[in-house]
Amino acid sequence: MTVHLRKVNKGLKGQITVPGDKSISHRAIILGSIALGKTTIAGFLPGNDCLSTIECFKNLGVDIKQHNDFVEINGKGITGLTEPNCILNVGNSGTTIRLLMGVLSHTNFYTSLTGDESICKRPMDRVVHPLKQMGTNIDGRVHGRYAPLSIRGGDLKGQIHRLNVASAQVKSAILLAGLFATGGTTVVEPYQSRDHTERMLKKFGVKINRDGLRISLLGNQKLIGTNIIVPGDISSAAFLIVAATIIPNSKIIIKNVGLNPTRTGVIDVLKQMGANIKIMNYREAEEPYGDIIVTASSLSGTTISGDLIPKLIDEIPIIALAATQAKGKTIIKDAEELKVKESNRIDTVVKQLKQMGAHITAIEDGMIINGKTNLIGTDVDCYKDHRIGMMLSVAALLSEGDTTIKNSDCINISYPNFLKDLAFLSGK
Ligand code: S3P
Repeated sequence: MTVHLRKVNKGLKGQITVPGDKSISHRAIILGSIALGKTTIAGFLPGNDCLSTIECFKNLGVDIKQHNDFVEINGKGITGLTEPNCILNVGNSGTTIRLLMGVLSHTNFYTSLTGDESICKRPMDRVVHPLKQMGTNIDGRVHGRYAPLSIRGGDLKGQIHRLNVASAQVKSAILLAGLFATGGTTVVEPYQSRDHTERMLKKFGVKINRDGLRISLLGNQKLIGTNIIVPGDISSAAFLIVAATIIPNSKIIIKNVGLNPTRTGVIDVLKQMGANIKIMNYREAEEPYGDIIVTASSLSGTTISGDLIPKLIDEIPIIALAATQAKGKTIIKDAEELKVKESNRIDTVVKQLKQMGAHITAIEDGMIINGKTNLIGTDVDCYKDHRIGMMLSVAALLSEGDTTIKNSDCINISYPNFLKDLAFLSGK
């Protein structure tokens, strides 16, 4: 699909909710599918990635009923999974394929996993190697580096794994495998990554410990079905937060957004740049959440690096757009991981924003942006990457003239009503 967007003359106004958190929705399906008894999920994200997770577990024999944002799973425990009679297709979802590898690592049947063109280019060896070390029979193209992958589980032994990237997907895959291993499994992270798996495992009755950057669990633990409430996705809210910050005269309220501190880097950075963002009705739960109030404001450049990067990795495309509207220089570094996301996000962000007139340069591990620039509408491409598509849509609302965005259907991956919500807030 191609969309045509143009500059909004008035600011964004109104109150809105964003769809459920993608990371939490995936984990709720995965843990509910290997738990004993009934699990319900309210606030589930019915985006293409999470629907791929449901489809994979249905093909593994799990009874899952989904209606919009409500899901019911009748889990039979890990031994309830059965050999699929087709190749499991994860579509565009890195979280699905990597966490599934962990779940399937000890099964006594054969599974093959594949995904779309982007998935088949993303590194899988970061999960294949530690699982092989634990005892799984797993392989893939180019010595296990890429999907399609094949897995025939094995008898697993718990081990200590020191990760060289801060990746919640790798950490989660190893911890899920650790549930079925003999002895203890420990993951040591270089920086803390999102901790939704650890929080949700506890909710399903698993004993798991964190000591600084070390997370450990013992094997042979049972998961018991439970009721999960998924808060709004801060990564989706981030597009609206930035839009309301950089479009003059805006004031919006986003209700019930997840505020897990391993995910709120975008709020910290925007505030540091001068954004007017307030949190109201903060509530503690398994996953903390609250309402976010954003008023338009002027921004200054900043530097983003080190342990902040995993807390905002998915928000870098929209932060880069914010930086084009900030006075002075913004440096984003230590973010090589951007190269192995749904697209190479250093290349795609830089190329597309440059085309709209931004002063932005790629560096080896990030980008440098000089603002403030008046952006100009033109023809852009989101390279089938949902976060690039949403960033370019927000850029279009700010740009002089018309913007045409090609391949915009990828937005359905994480925020199917995004363009409708933007139109609502623009008063259209
Ligand atoms: C995710 C973890 C992050 C993030 C991705 C979702 C998750 O990836 O970029 O969108 O749900 O665990 P990495 O673990 O590869 O950093």
